[in-house]
Amino acid sequence: MDKFVIRGGNPLLGTIRVSGAKNSALPCMAAAILTEDEVVLENIPQVRDIATERELLVSMGAEVELGYGRAQHRTTINCRVLSDPTAKYEIVKTMRASSLVLGPLVARCGLARVAQPGGCAIGDRPIDLHLKGLERMGASIVQEHGYLEARAGKLHGAHIVFDRITVTGTEDLMMAATLAEGETIMENCAREPEVVDLAHLLSAMGARIAGAGETTIRVQGVDKLHGARHRIIPDRIEAGTFLVAGAITGGDLVVANCQPAHLSAIVSKLQASGARISALGPDSLRVRGEGALTSNDVSTEEYPGFPTDMQAQYMALATQAEGASTVTENIFENRFMHVGELVRMGASIKVDGRTATVRGKTPLSSAAVMCSDLRASASLVLAALVADGESILDRVYHMDRGYERIEEKLRGVGAQIRRIGDMFGAGRREAALEVPVP
Ligand code: EPU
Repeated sequence: MDKFVIRGGNPLLGTIRVSGAKNSALPCMAAAILTEDEVVLENIPQVRDIATERELLVSMGAEVELGYGRAQHRTTINCRVLSDPTAKYEIVKTMRASSLVLGPLVARCGLARVAQPGGCAIGDRPIDLHLKGLERMGASIVQEHGYLEARAGKLHGAHIVFDRITVTGTEDLMMAATLAEGETIMENCAREPEVVDLAHLLSAMGARIAGAGETTIRVQGVDKLHGARHRIIPDRIEAGTFLVAGAITGGDLVVANCQPAHLSAIVSKLQASGARISALGPDSLRVRGEGALTSNDVSTEEYPGFPTDMQAQYMALATQAEGASTVTENIFENRFMHVGELVRMGASIKVDGRTATVRGKTPLSSAAVMCSDLRASASLVLAALVADGESILDRVYHMDRGYERIEEKLRGVGAQIRRIGDMFGAGRREAALEVPVP
């Protein structure tokens, strides 16, 4: 298994580029199921979850080309033949977002078999709200042998009020509704930029959607969708992670190719903590970590609030801020796996229920630590960048799920980070899956 070896102490200087958003690319790839034509997606990040989604689509009979390199990061998906509308357990267990194929498969094939995801490191992660919505649209759902089987002759429009806000739930049902008979009105929807990006793709495919990015979305079903070409938005969580990296290391970093409008909550929290952040043109932010960082409380919320996907990274920053910061996690019940590892590096953090209290500033010392999930890994990388000495991060395959070539990007701005491990380990698997695009 690959590991990162990180020597802390260098301020990050220069320009770092943000890749396409994993959490937008995943639903957009699933949307290709809705048409027999070709869907071309650009700015696809080169991360393991994307390779997994390709594997998922291919296992159903789709043709998926995934090309990186000098050409655009591009995938071309053709779902003309879907011989087996099943998301197998072997794939679903490694990536919960696989449940995003449920809605599109029922809408297109009238049948979907999706392995039940089960719990994961950050919580239970049920998909009951996806299922309730599909039932309201006329699907009948049976659970057996660890699989959910959804069937419908043709889905019909429905009035759906989500009991709680769900990002992939909103995306899944929005996709299903595009091919349903009549109008679907969804209330209490997620407003994340990734939902809006998916709606842009679906609209380019011929769907009739109004209100994406607002709490109520209306979808007027159509008979058929056609192919389209779409560019995925920049990854706001990767951008936020780089902003913290610049601030925590006392660096001067330009975070290029981002969408500043999607980063408002993150930027204002970092500014309140003493980081200097300014816009550099329409798609770049400059962060300077001059002067002392100060404590600040953070509470995670759905967009446009402070994202749960930045909570762990913010906590690393809070260890370097003067005073006590509280960090409250409101979205997932078990997203403090990084705390124990940060404490092993010298942080002072106490957890009480959903709130962690971080007392800073504590010097961090290098240690051998274990990554437990994607964002926890990012938090440990940030901590290691300011720790005294050489840290070794184990299980970086978690990081590879959602951060593209992170060690190369960080090295490019002065970090001392290298990957060690077996050549055929998780980190190299994507490279093996690369298909050059002419
Ligand atoms: N929930 C339910 N029932 C459902 C669906 C969700 O109770 O049917 C609960 C969840 O257990 C959770 C809350 O609702 O407590 C919100 O979950 P949501 O459905 O919004 O999460 P998700 O769609 O599974 C996406 C991202 C996550 C991100 C969350 C929250 C993708 C592929 N994943 O997950 O990203 O943390 O929204 O913003 O879009 C990550 O990238 O590291 C990551 C975990």
